[in-house]
Amino acid sequence: MKYRLTLLPGDGIGPEVVDAALKVMNYVAEKFKVSVETQEHLMGGCSFDAHGAPLTEEALQACYDSDAVLLGAVGGYKWENLEHHLKPEAALLKLRKSLGLFANIRPAKVYSSFMNSSSLKGEVLKGTNFVVFRELTGGIYFGEPRGFDDDRGYNTMVYSKYEVERIAHMAFKTARNRKGNVTNVDKANVLEVSQFWRNVVEEVAKEYPDVELSHMYVDNAAMQIVRDPKQFDVIVTGNIFGDIISDIAGMITGSLGMLPSASLGSEYALYEPVHGSAPDIAGKNIANPIAAISSVGMMFEHSFGMTKAAELIEESIEQTLNQGYRTADIGSKEDKIVSTVEFTGLVIQNIEEVYNEQALGVFTL
Ligand code: NAD
Ligand code: IPM
Ligand code: MN
Repeated sequence: MKYRLTLLPGDGIGPEVVDAALKVMNYVAEKFKVSVETQEHLMGGCSFDAHGAPLTEEALQACYDSDAVLLGAVGGYKWENLEHHLKPEAALLKLRKSLGLFANIRPAKVYSSFMNSSSLKGEVLKGTNFVVFRELTGGIYFGEPRGFDDDRGYNTMVYSKYEVERIAHMAFKTARNRKGNVTNVDKANVLEVSQFWRNVVEEVAKEYPDVELSHMYVDNAAMQIVRDPKQFDVIVTGNIFGDIISDIAGMITGSLGMLPSASLGSEYALYEPVHGSAPDIAGKNIANPIAAISSVGMMFEHSFGMTKAAELIEESIEQTLNQGYRTADIGSKEDKIVSTVEFTGLVIQNIEEVYNEQALGVFTL
């Protein structure tokens, strides 16, 4: 098989983690005998500096022409005071909207060897495995009117029925293949748009009698994720609530550097770590590449239908952690602290080992 992939490394640690993810991607692609042709483009602050726009038509066209897009992160201090539509972050929103990526899937799983790396206690974390379905192309991020002048600033949170229906369907279908629970997170006690959202989710739920639906206000959900993360299976929520909830989920798993994501629509797909460009640690070869590497795993699964390759990547990350290797953000005194490049090399070494073990397993059956 032959696939086309557009790489958008972006700013800050973006290029460092995309480089790591790409090495893993190439290694696994070769093992599974698929060819992935890559094309790289600037996006974000670096694109603004080079072309005067954070996302060029050419970069966008490359994404339209690809089977998948792999993005690092965009943004940084240097571009914070640009006009809104020229900011690196605006490019990301334009990309998501243009490609119709309405469902942002952010799985939060705690690696077994990892209990001591989280700010939460092991007994609270053990067994945590949930996934956030964040609506990505609507809500307050895109609502009109929006703007600010000397006296006022405003945005609009608006959702249409079809926007809620399609993300809800995805969440319910996923729950069917998991533990069968959907938690809808909203702010229906205060916001009309949330009451509407909740009503639509309840309508959709009738088509999935085998899935249990519950509702939670977003402030409570933020607290519950920290108090007892095991209670969640599938969370479905709007754009801004999902943004906030997924950073919390990122941290309970040890570091924001751990959380991958897939953004899916009906035609296109984009994969990116949940974390940002981390300008405070950029260029130091200390960024955690797990989120980006794991995003490649999601790409193999969702875009290329290669579940085995995705599992191989996850197991190899897990094995590297089990061997005691950590990047600085998740390391403690007992751990072997390694750089981004070293950690990536170790994951690749483990891919080789896990692959060989599994192949042997098949022969001995
Ligand atoms: P951030 O996620 O970049 O960083 C938050 C903290 O987490 C920092 O201390 C950082 O060092 C740490 N961190 C993040 N990723 C890490 C990794 N892989 N390894 C180790 N440590 C990691 O969030 P921020 O500081 O609020 O934002 C910085 C810039 O990134 C802003 O311009 C923001 O808009 C942008 N941003 C972009 C994306 C994206 O492109 N998808 C996402 C979030 C933020
Ligand atoms: C994320 C980021 C983005 C968002 C920003 C950078 C536009 O925080 O992907 O979580 O808010 O969606
Ligand atoms: Mn975010």
